[in-house]
Amino acid sequence: MTFSERAQSVFPAGSNGEFNLPPELSIVIARGEGCRLWDSAGREFLDFSMGWGSVLVGHARPEVVAAVTAQAPNGSNFAYVTEQSLALAEEIVRLSPACEQLRFCASGTEATMYCQRLARAWSGRPKILKFEGAYHGANEVGVTSLFPADPPDFPAPDPVAGGIAHMVARDILVAPYNDLAASRQILADHAHEIAGVIVEPLQRCTPPEPGFLDGLRAATREAGVLLIFDEVVTGFRLAYGGAQDYYGVVPDLVAYGKALGGGYPIGAFGGSAQIMALMREERLGDPSYMWVASTLGGNPISTAAAGAALEVFRAPGTYTRLHVLGETLRAGMRRVLRERQMTAQVIGDGPLAQIVFSDQAVRDYRSTKRGDGQKGRALMLGLFRRGIFLNPMGTKLYLSIAHDEAVCDEVLNRLDDALSEIG
Ligand SMILES: Cc1ncc(COP(=O)(O)O)c(C=O)c1O
Repeated sequence: MTFSERAQSVFPAGSNGEFNLPPELSIVIARGEGCRLWDSAGREFLDFSMGWGSVLVGHARPEVVAAVTAQAPNGSNFAYVTEQSLALAEEIVRLSPACEQLRFCASGTEATMYCQRLARAWSGRPKILKFEGAYHGANEVGVTSLFPADPPDFPAPDPVAGGIAHMVARDILVAPYNDLAASRQILADHAHEIAGVIVEPLQRCTPPEPGFLDGLRAATREAGVLLIFDEVVTGFRLAYGGAQDYYGVVPDLVAYGKALGGGYPIGAFGGSAQIMALMREERLGDPSYMWVASTLGGNPISTAAAGAALEVFRAPGTYTRLHVLGETLRAGMRRVLRERQMTAQVIGDGPLAQIVFSDQAVRDYRSTKRGDGQKGRALMLGLFRRGIFLNPMGTKLYLSIAHDEAVCDEVLNRLDDALSEIG
């Protein structure tokens, strides 16, 4: 059996989730370096997934490897505070305006789940308002109304996938992203039962329209509802201080993951000391006490990797370069599409880009869905065949610190070639 046959036999659809490659394209990765990876047959790929954005620092970045290698012989987990987790927490508190205190966990899914639970525990109210099409990890709120085929009227949720308890789906309300008036209305109608509003400040690859995040901040404050920023993607990527810094809006609670760990498993969530006090164990027995204990959260390997990654991010010019590179890639995509006379929207911000085959501006889930998804998938598979490693669902491409102009030129050449096939 080949590596990919073995993968098809033990993993549903041959992967650990979401890649959904046809069997003839499925590969098994052997190693990565910078923005490249190699499969088990020695074939080289330019990586535009970068571990779904978790390896913003670049594969096998020497500083991260050195930090992990130094810690490994000294123990990998104590489920307790270590020098590494303490230093990292202090740095996050320094850079994240919303965070006076935080706790670590092991993934973005957990970080957003804890924020939702904190909002419920804080307010005593049951419901979370999310935006249609947003992903907050594989928890109930995270996947509800993620890809509704036939979306119900707002604010009704669509469980989208199996495995979500109906009682949980009933505790989720859904609003259209970038529609402040609709969000305000839902808040006005349901404030008495809403614990928190969770938003990806940059939803998937769709930027917030001017005034949307500020408006949400004001509306949640007026309604006495906590605002949660899911910064799992935007954190450390749009700016060192994440979306809070980039868009200048400070939420009540914030969730981090992905880029923070330098490619190692991590999640973190934080807020004011008053809200975070709900987790103090002496409150056990009080109805507002919130149980949080993550066995691997804040382990010294992940936090050592994160400390090294943050040091790399802090180097002067990092974010100017990431933004220039992202803009270069998006502009190049628009040029190639124009030259091929193909109608499409190129969306994204910072080191993120996505092509949506639509003649209409993309501002939320429903306008994204109007795009030609089959064409999007055909293009992604065409790029994959041409040695570009990406998620063929037609979602965003991730750049990293290890990408440069030459790599962007190369992907644009292959994009042009792939477009010639899909007409
Ligand atoms: C915005 C956002 N939040 C949360 C998550 C979940 O993170 P993880 O896969 O680490 O659980 C993701 C993952 O893609 C994400 O994009």
